[in-house]
Amino acid sequence: MSILVCGGAGYIGSHTCYGLIEQGEDVVIVDNLMTGHRGAINPAAKFYEGDIRDAQILDKIFSENKIDAVIHFAANSLVGESVEKPLKYFNNNVYGMQILLESMVGNNVNKIVFSSTAATYGEPEKIPIEENDKTFPTNPYGESKLIMERMMKWVSRANGINFVSLRYFNAAGAIESGEIGEDHSPETHLIPLILQVPLGKRDHITIFGEDYPTPDGTCLRDYIHVIDLADAHILALKYLREGGESNIFNLGNGKGFSVKEMIAAAEKVTGQKIKTEIGTRRAGDPAQLVASSEKACKILGWTPRFDNVEKIIETAWTWHKNHPDGYSDKK
Ligand code: UFG
Repeated sequence: MSILVCGGAGYIGSHTCYGLIEQGEDVVIVDNLMTGHRGAINPAAKFYEGDIRDAQILDKIFSENKIDAVIHFAANSLVGESVEKPLKYFNNNVYGMQILLESMVGNNVNKIVFSSTAATYGEPEKIPIEENDKTFPTNPYGESKLIMERMMKWVSRANGINFVSLRYFNAAGAIESGEIGEDHSPETHLIPLILQVPLGKRDHITIFGEDYPTPDGTCLRDYIHVIDLADAHILALKYLREGGESNIFNLGNGKGFSVKEMIAAAEKVTGQKIKTEIGTRRAGDPAQLVASSEKACKILGWTPRFDNVEKIIETAWTWHKNHPDGYSDKK
C-alpha cells in the first residue's frame, strides 16, 4: 500500500517524504508547486503535479495507486498574507480539504494525518498550551486550519474516516545532510531571516518589539525540528493503521526561546556577529507560544531528537550555506 502526501514538495511535507521513504514506505506525492519546489521531491516518490482542489486528479491518483492513508500538508501558511487575502486561505485550505475528503470517501480511503498549527489557539490562556485549551484563532490562516480540523471531525463521524491532527509550533531546521530545507518566498520566518545576515543577503535582522512581558522583552517561541515533525507524522500513521481513534496532538519541545536568544544562538553557530535593529511589534504576534507535547509523547510514543536550539540552527545553517538561493539552482 502507498501513502498519498498532499503538499509533499513543501518544507515539512518534503522532510516527511524523506522519512517515509527511509522507512520503506511507497510514497505518492501530489503538489501544485505553488509554494513547493520540484527540487524538494524525493526521487523515489511518484509525483503528480496537480492541485487538490481538482477532484479529477485526486480520483485518478486514488485509482492508479493502492493508497491506504493520506498525509495532508497542501495549504497556504503565511499569517500576514492570510489577513490581507482571507479568501485565498478559505479557497485553497478549506475548499481544498472538502475536495480531498470527498475524494477519500468516494475512494474508500479512511486515514488522514493533517498538518495543523499552534495558530488554531490564538492568544494562549496559559503556558504551556494543551490540546483542550481554548481555540480562538486571531488570523484567517489559523481559522482555516481549525475549520479543516472540524471538517475532519464531522466527516470522521459520518463516513468513518479516522484522522490525526498535528498542531505544530515553530517548525525549524533541515535534514542533516543539507539536501533539502526551508525555502519560502517571501521568507517571513525568523531563523532563515537571521541566517541571511551572515550569508550577506541582508544587512541586519529587525527584532519585532522588545516590550513584551517576557524576560528580555522579545517574543518566546517553541522551536521544533522539522525531522521531529516528520517522525511524528510517521508515528501518527502507525497509530491510525493500528486502529487508533481520531485525535489531536501538539508538537513542540516545551521550551520557549526569545528572539534575542535565537540571534545569540545563531551567532554561536555561524561564528559571526549578527547585526540587529529594534522594530515595532508585528500585528497578531502573541508574547509566548509554548507547547505541552505530553499527549503526543504518551500516546504516539514521540520523543523529539533535537531539543537543543543551537543544533536546530546548525542544520538550518548547513542548508542555507549550501543553497543561499534555496531551490532556485535545482529548478
Ligand atoms: N520575528 C522577528 N523578526 C523577523 C521575523 C520574526 O522578530 O524578521 C519574530 C516574530 O515576531 C516572532 C518570532 O520571531 O516573535 C517567530 O516568528 P516566525 O515568523 O518565524 O514564526 P511565528 O511564530 O510568527 O509563526 C509560527 C508559524 C506559523 C504559525 C504560528 C502560530 O510559522 O505557521 O507560528 O502563531 F501560524
